[in-house]
Amino acid sequence: MLRKKIKTGFIDVVVGLQWGDEGKGKNIDQLLSSRIYSGVARFQGGANAGHTLQLGKITFIGHIIPSGCLQKNVELYIGNGVVVDTVSLIAEMSQLKSLGFNVAPRLYISNRAKLVSYLHPFLDQADEYRRNKLGTKVGTTNRGIGPAYSDVRWRRALLIGDLLSSDFEQKEKTLSEFHMNVLKMYQEKYGFEIDLKKIKEAKEKWLKAIKEVKKLKICDVSYLIQTRLNTGKNILAEGAQAVMLDVDFGDFPFVTSSNTLPANVCLGLGVPHTYLRNIYGVLKAYTTKVGGGNFPARIKDESLEKLFQKAGNEFGATTGRPRMCGWLDLFALRHAIALSGANKIFINKSDICLSDKIKVVIGYTIKENGKRTCLPAGRFPLYLNHVTDVQTEEMPGWGNANFGVKNKQKVSKELSSYLKYIKNKLSDLNVKIISVGTGPDREHFFNWDK
Ligand code: GDP
Ligand code: IMO
Ligand code: MG
Repeated sequence: MLRKKIKTGFIDVVVGLQWGDEGKGKNIDQLLSSRIYSGVARFQGGANAGHTLQLGKITFIGHIIPSGCLQKNVELYIGNGVVVDTVSLIAEMSQLKSLGFNVAPRLYISNRAKLVSYLHPFLDQADEYRRNKLGTKVGTTNRGIGPAYSDVRWRRALLIGDLLSSDFEQKEKTLSEFHMNVLKMYQEKYGFEIDLKKIKEAKEKWLKAIKEVKKLKICDVSYLIQTRLNTGKNILAEGAQAVMLDVDFGDFPFVTSSNTLPANVCLGLGVPHTYLRNIYGVLKAYTTKVGGGNFPARIKDESLEKLFQKAGNEFGATTGRPRMCGWLDLFALRHAIALSGANKIFINKSDICLSDKIKVVIGYTIKENGKRTCLPAGRFPLYLNHVTDVQTEEMPGWGNANFGVKNKQKVSKELSSYLKYIKNKLSDLNVKIISVGTGPDREHFFNWDK
């Protein structure tokens, strides 16, 4: 008897289109509710991410655990492209357990993922200390991301799979000695203070976490995901950070240390590009940014920026730092859509708009080699600190009229016009605005452009 060949599954991707914190966690959780995906996979970054999930009274912030943790039937994968903070991982798993979600049976960690060591955050701090003196501080999350990825590129990183090997202790010792020498260099050359007590505490916590991680499912995640795809199952790839923080295409050096673009899904999970289908791009109705570098769309009126910060609860989910707030930057957004290939868009925080009038950035003027140029659409500056002015358009705001709205028909006319305006401005890019967020809860959204 001839057996019918099973159609292979596909991978959809969720990517941030601004400077991070667009609400990706919430949208991933919503997409998973559709039940078309059997698993969700992190493919880059580490515990620098902070993805908030709100489900009724439960609020959970995932730094390293994929955002499918509150969906009991979804498999969770940590791909080879991720730098794994074991302390954060174990803490999140235990927090989830206390909320009634034991994720261990459905969590798979790639044996090729990289280990963040207890000294990486100290190296991160040391380099920020050096940069601060030069006036080029990145404003990292201090989770050791840059040093961990540097170790990968310099081919001395520890892999998660090494945890199971008999020579792990020796490898770890060699790497830690190297790291301590680097820290001493920062001390001698730049006056960075090495706190041995803190290092000892961090090492103890790390060793404890590692013992727990060794009990988890460490395996070949690339093979596992391909097996799932080849039996007709679909996977959601969870982007962390955002296009404007991509190490190659963001505002270098004020970026993170991984490629955040969907192109990196293939390398960060070990799957061919032929499986990729939809790219879901996520943005907020305005823009926020944490860390160093120029932010051309920043709201100039300080008290108005503070209002947005307060109403939008714009404080980092990982570091608690206040996020700078700006207008929706359509000029940067077009660049992000073009690079990521996003075809479906989520717009969050449409409930937050406190001013009578809102602005949208539509153009950048730059000064390069003494010459001022108004950039044509599609051309993005090499460095954002070359941007001297922005061109804006203005339209009526909508106060807090749209909080919790779940039906397109109930949206205020100002928000409705704003969404139509955005759609119109992006019309040549072939994107659909599929869903609009009106609050932090899983249920707070309405479908718009179906
Ligand atoms: P992520 O890193 O992209 O997952 O986003 P974060 O979790 O860092 O930040 C998004 C914040 O906005 C979180 O506090 C969410 O609970 C909240 N949020 C998401 N969507 C909405 C929305 O539509 N309205 C409001 N008011 N809050 C939202
Ligand atoms: P999610 O996934 C917002 C920023 C930091 C800093 C720069 C480099 O929650 O959107 P790093 O620690 O990565 O070396 O810091 O990147 N950054 C983020 N900003 N959201 C994030 O993640 C971020 N992850 C890193 O503030 O400017
Ligand atoms: Mg975040």
